[in-house]
Amino acid sequence: MSDDLFPVPADWAASARIDKAARAADYQRSLEDADAYWLEQARRLDWNTPPTRASESSFDEADFTIRWFADGTLNASVNCLDRHLAERGDAVAILWEPDDPDETPRQLTYRQLHAEVCRFANVLKGAGARRGDRITIYLPMIPEAAVALLACARIGAIHSVVFGGFSPEALAGRIIDCDSTIVVTADEGRRGGRRVPLKANVDTALALDHCSSVHHVLVVRATGGTVPMQNGRDIWYDEAMAQASADCPAEIMNAEDPLFLLYTSGSTGKPKGVVHSTGGYLLWASLTHQLCFDYRPGDVWWCAADVGWVTGHSYIVYGPLANGATTLMYEGLPNWPTHSRIWEIVDRHQVHTLFTAPTVLRALMKEGDAFVHVTSRASLRLLGSVGEPINPEAWRWYHHVVGEDRCPIIDTWWQTETGGAMIAPMPGATDLKPGSATFPMPGVEAMIVDGEGRPIEGEGEGNLVIARSWPGQMRTVWNDHDRFFQTYFTTFPGKYTTGDGARRDADGYYWITGRVDDVINVSGHRMGTAEVESALVLHSAVAEAAVVGMPHEIKGQGIYAYVTLNAGEVPGEELRRALIQWVRAEIGPIATPDVIQFAPGLPKTRSGKIMRRILRKIAEGEVSPQALGDTSTLADPSVVDDLVRSRLAFA
Ligand code: WTA
Repeated sequence: MSDDLFPVPADWAASARIDKAARAADYQRSLEDADAYWLEQARRLDWNTPPTRASESSFDEADFTIRWFADGTLNASVNCLDRHLAERGDAVAILWEPDDPDETPRQLTYRQLHAEVCRFANVLKGAGARRGDRITIYLPMIPEAAVALLACARIGAIHSVVFGGFSPEALAGRIIDCDSTIVVTADEGRRGGRRVPLKANVDTALALDHCSSVHHVLVVRATGGTVPMQNGRDIWYDEAMAQASADCPAEIMNAEDPLFLLYTSGSTGKPKGVVHSTGGYLLWASLTHQLCFDYRPGDVWWCAADVGWVTGHSYIVYGPLANGATTLMYEGLPNWPTHSRIWEIVDRHQVHTLFTAPTVLRALMKEGDAFVHVTSRASLRLLGSVGEPINPEAWRWYHHVVGEDRCPIIDTWWQTETGGAMIAPMPGATDLKPGSATFPMPGVEAMIVDGEGRPIEGEGEGNLVIARSWPGQMRTVWNDHDRFFQTYFTTFPGKYTTGDGARRDADGYYWITGRVDDVINVSGHRMGTAEVESALVLHSAVAEAAVVGMPHEIKGQGIYAYVTLNAGEVPGEELRRALIQWVRAEIGPIATPDVIQFAPGLPKTRSGKIMRRILRKIAEGEVSPQALGDTSTLADPSVVDDLVRSRLAFA
């Protein structure tokens, strides 16, 4: 179907650093001559001691190890700042667009950002931070967020960023899990003209039981809102910065020292602290930013994610800054004050590459093309997508309406665990198919396996696994190395299990079909069904809850909760609203259930396991006996009839 193939545009073919032949050759070499290839790639970083060894990794239980560049030493903040000063000290590092379009944007050159980072690193040291300490960052999208990350990196402290939309309970859980000693926050955040009470949330979190490791809270004055400050514990950022020296030698770190941890949802249990390394991660973020987006000095790069997610870590901060880029950071929402806001920002800052999520595109697409047409977008050369499968309709809209058929769409498949893009196009090398993330990046030995782990060659569909380590791979789950091994390396022994399904077509293109486990992807944000279930059962009216994903036009997936009430509780609108509020307060607005169905019982096997397959079908509105399949193994098959009846009653 040639209609469905979008060849590399002529201007990209002529100017791109990597063409088709180079991509293919690179890929082959990265697997066949891996050590030489990776030691060569490692030279894109500045090392105190250059590594002489590349991967020393094995996914097998007997000698399970993930280790890269182990004899190399470096500092990530030096790579993102100091080494650029001589050549582009006065180039803009961070371009900041405020929530309110009438406010003036801010700019920080590499020299200014370097000075800020050194000052803040000294502030952190003054507050007692030492190499290896965990520091929780709970900030809005302001330049101080990048400053805080890099200042931690400078002194060898491990940052743990918590998305500003998480509740005090969720924040406390993430502080307790890693025993962090310092929290960096702001008085308030701003999003779409509304205030987010960040400092108040921190106060609530730190007052909760068991949340006692934190001795200092550093508070950025972002809105000037009044917030109580606790004597001896809380410190104003600006006051401390005014006293701090801008001279802070960087701590020399081993390549394998953790750079950060970032909590993400899995199939089961509490969110896990994904640990990333200093050397391998930074190399992966920087290399993939270069390969997927062919960044050139002077281009304005905009990754419209939040630093609270891995996309913000890798493609707002570490990747672009390691590459000396101008990275735009936007405080607000894509559709405020108007549905043209994104495109207005593109024009205002002459953005060259925009990297955003399908959910944003679907939401804007729905509002009609006029909001796009009123802007120029002439500066755009490249468009990126990340976070969830992009449906071909949204892809075509992005390509045709936003990019006026001029800009390749770089659909990058990856995960918090992978550190950076794993399957993605390169603008000068890859003919595109709408909805396909195309081919694996160098060093990524992607495979599709069936349920028994047997490889599927050529065309076919199954589980996406990665057969060998790559530099950006997570190194462990914080404090739980066994959980790391169990979660990712036991389903298909010897391989990294992604949790995603994929199809390979006759031309070798990969199509990600979505999660095959109990993780749901709501507007590109990962949510574990178990997390929402545990929040629901904490409510006094709830006896039991089962949560599944349901198709959602804008969000990709919505949250569908089946709730069984305690005896005497009355199902109804009021309780439904109360439960929705409850989950928002327990986890945060991103976990808001879209549907709550009260159920007298849940479909369980005789051994007590909930049959989610059935619940997913009912949530999708598929209630025919054929769709529901065999229910004879259920302890009480009549439960299903009840569920179907009440589903039909409110459908
Ligand atoms: C999904 C975000 C299809 C996938 C970087 C993955 C995608 C999960 C894509 C990771 C894409 C991300 N196409 N699916 N381009 N990008 N996903 O950890 O299910 O927040 O496993 O990392 O998002 O989400 P996470």
